[in-house]
Amino acid sequence: QEIMKGSYKTYMQKEIFEQPDSVVNTMRGRLLPSRQVVLGGIKEYLPDIKRCRRLIMVACGTSFHSAIACRQILEELSELPVVVELASDFLDRETPIFRDDVCLFISQSGETADTLMALRYCKPRGALTIGVTNTVGSSICRESHCGIHINAGPEIGVASTKAYTSQILSLLMFALTLSDDRISMATRREEIIDALNDLPNLIREVLKLDDKVHEIAQQIYKEKSLLIMGRGFNFATCLEGALKIKELSYMHCEGIMSGELKHGPLAMVDEFLSICMVVCNDHVYKKSLNALQQVVARKGAPIIIADNSVPEGDLAGMKHILRVPKTVDCVQNILTVIPLQLLSYHIAELNGANVDRPRNLAKSVTVE
Ligand code: AGP
Repeated sequence: QEIMKGSYKTYMQKEIFEQPDSVVNTMRGRLLPSRQVVLGGIKEYLPDIKRCRRLIMVACGTSFHSAIACRQILEELSELPVVVELASDFLDRETPIFRDDVCLFISQSGETADTLMALRYCKPRGALTIGVTNTVGSSICRESHCGIHINAGPEIGVASTKAYTSQILSLLMFALTLSDDRISMATRREEIIDALNDLPNLIREVLKLDDKVHEIAQQIYKEKSLLIMGRGFNFATCLEGALKIKELSYMHCEGIMSGELKHGPLAMVDEFLSICMVVCNDHVYKKSLNALQQVVARKGAPIIIADNSVPEGDLAGMKHILRVPKTVDCVQNILTVIPLQLLSYHIAELNGANVDRPRNLAKSVTVE
């Protein structure tokens, strides 16, 4: 096992740094030079999938966050209502399911009990079921009608990293296949496909931030609490970054939709609270800047994760700015989450926590 880690100290660190390659594996043979997207595992069912009236994504934990990350682009490209469900709550509510629903069950392991039970709930009700898993032959893979293999390679660290970015990628490719016959969306589809082809190099750029992230971790690892704020395509990054920090370093950390700031969380902000804000130059840029101004006006001093097209002047006075390359809006969240994966890793290490095996957690949760 030591040998498999190579020059890395932990599996998690190895898996974070593997992401330029794992995304290539996820796209291999699916993103064709002709700018077509072919997902072999759902090909046969594609006409039925396109006829559906609603898309439902069901998952837990990090896999749930990948659904949040891709909801908007699925709505845009499919023009269907897209519902995102936590598997446990979905089951608790005995959610109504119809024959013309398409349900996606997203699970790295393919064995998570809540997600598997949700699949077993939807199938007899006549919905078309799609497993999105990283494990060929897993229960979710076997029991669903068809599937998309994430193909990120085995993930050993309990904290999910490369599987998350590959889940987003798989769902993006799914959105692209749903819209492949819409001429009105051709330009949008092409800009996304081009961005996906550039992704491995852009991830390599982001990973160069590691030393800078380590310095930031050294300054905040003893804090009691950290809030991570953002909106739009980057809200999922806030939730996922907060989950990573909670599970690895046992620090209280919350992902906050910045549109909700004035509805409560703003009351917590002062010069002592640690805050991180994701600010990207997309359709919610002005609103993100507004949230930043509100935090600064309350003496907050946030760490900023911004794409490199955000003007320096808009971030004047910020002590820590982590710049990631700019890409297409719906792909940007793959790049903004990586500094938070690194941050959670370094905070955990500085706190002396077991990075690969956080206390109280299992890699695959096979009980309800
Ligand atoms: C994330 O770091 C955790 N390991 C956890 O939230 C995980 O994503 C969740 O338990 C779901 O697992 P699955 O993807 O294997 O279904």
